[in-house]
Amino acid sequence: MGKVIGIGFLGLGVVGSQVISYINENREYVKEVYGMEFSVKAVYVRDINKKRNIDTSDVFLTTNIADIVENPEIQVCVECMGGAGMEETYKAVMKSIQNGKHIVMSSKKCLATYGMKLMEASNQYNIQLRFEASVGGCIPICRSLMQMSKGDEIRKIYGIVNATSTYVLSAMENHKISFSEALQQAKAKGFAENNSSEDIMGIDTLNKMRILLRLGMKVDVDCRYIEPVSIENIDIEATNQAGTIIRQIFYAEKTSAEDICCFVGPKALNSNHMLQSVSENYNMIFVESKHSGLRAYYGKGAGGRETASVMFDDLIDVLQNKYRFEDIEPIICNCLTSENLVL
Ligand SMILES: NC(=O)c1ccc[n+]([C@@H]2O[C@H](COP(=O)([O-])OP(=O)(O)OC[C@H]3O[C@@H](n4cnc5c(N)ncnc54)[C@H](OP(=O)(O)O)[C@@H]3O)[C@@H](O)[C@H]2O)c1
Repeated sequence: MGKVIGIGFLGLGVVGSQVISYINENREYVKEVYGMEFSVKAVYVRDINKKRNIDTSDVFLTTNIADIVENPEIQVCVECMGGAGMEETYKAVMKSIQNGKHIVMSSKKCLATYGMKLMEASNQYNIQLRFEASVGGCIPICRSLMQMSKGDEIRKIYGIVNATSTYVLSAMENHKISFSEALQQAKAKGFAENNSSEDIMGIDTLNKMRILLRLGMKVDVDCRYIEPVSIENIDIEATNQAGTIIRQIFYAEKTSAEDICCFVGPKALNSNHMLQSVSENYNMIFVESKHSGLRAYYGKGAGGRETASVMFDDLIDVLQNKYRFEDIEPIICNCLTSENLVL
């Protein structure tokens, strides 16, 4: 028998249930390769009686968050809670860190808002914190940024990280339908949540950009100075006639040690730009650095199984490797407009 590692879950929805499936499917692999055995000790949910899409007969479901954050049998806390309870998520994760538990997180909204405090606490308490699922779904972009920017200076990070807006814009273009029809279609196909205003307004993309800039450029952008542009009032016909297509993008460029320029919103892309090929629930992120030049990351940005795959990797990573967050400087950014941004 391998060393038993107690795992606690915060949330058991689309993503959480798939992480448990990964744990069950990979028991032998984890034992053989890592000499460990994962044991799910408790799972925090809102409603114990809700029908789940995995068998929970041998899982201890609880509505008492202390059963996870105060449980001495739990060494790793896996957070898969909806963004709706951001403060609740933050408090639970912070308490878990203070109680010596490693953390695997998914909530980008919580990380964008409280990530600095959580990263500082994880350094202070000597705890491993990972959040690959928070940006880009199954694309290992956080891990790459954490490991790649040692001797090379990252100058630009940009791309598409919101599946809802991509779906809506491509449906408007391809099927000549209105914004509201396209949004309804996105909801019906599972590419958009019921309340998707943060996706449409660019707030979700802004949150994800903040997380990436902390890891890649070691800066914390003050969001009060960035106003994302909504995709709601786009003239699709005019952009198509001009031979371009529109996507909601984010763009950040470090122009000097103290200056950064950012943009979040719809951008008309020329037909030869790689971002043009991004559709449905795919994401694409470009990272440009001083010595290595341009690198691209592409893959599915949403989906329970896809997202759970990187959380399972994070779960192993927090137990195998040590990462200490470097100092991250607060920075005020200059806002670019879609027109003066050249891709
Ligand atoms: N779905 C994706 O494709 C995807 C991709 C990347 C990242 N993420 C992130 O992963 C996290 C989980 O997403 P999901 O799709 O699995 O969400 P979900 O299906 O809505 O599941 C959320 C889970 O959290 C529990 N919960 C407890 N307190 C809550 C609260 N105050 N508000 C909301 N939920 C609460 C819910 O309990 P009950 O089940 O009892 O309601 C549920 O089990 C989110 O932060 C999301 O941003 C999701």
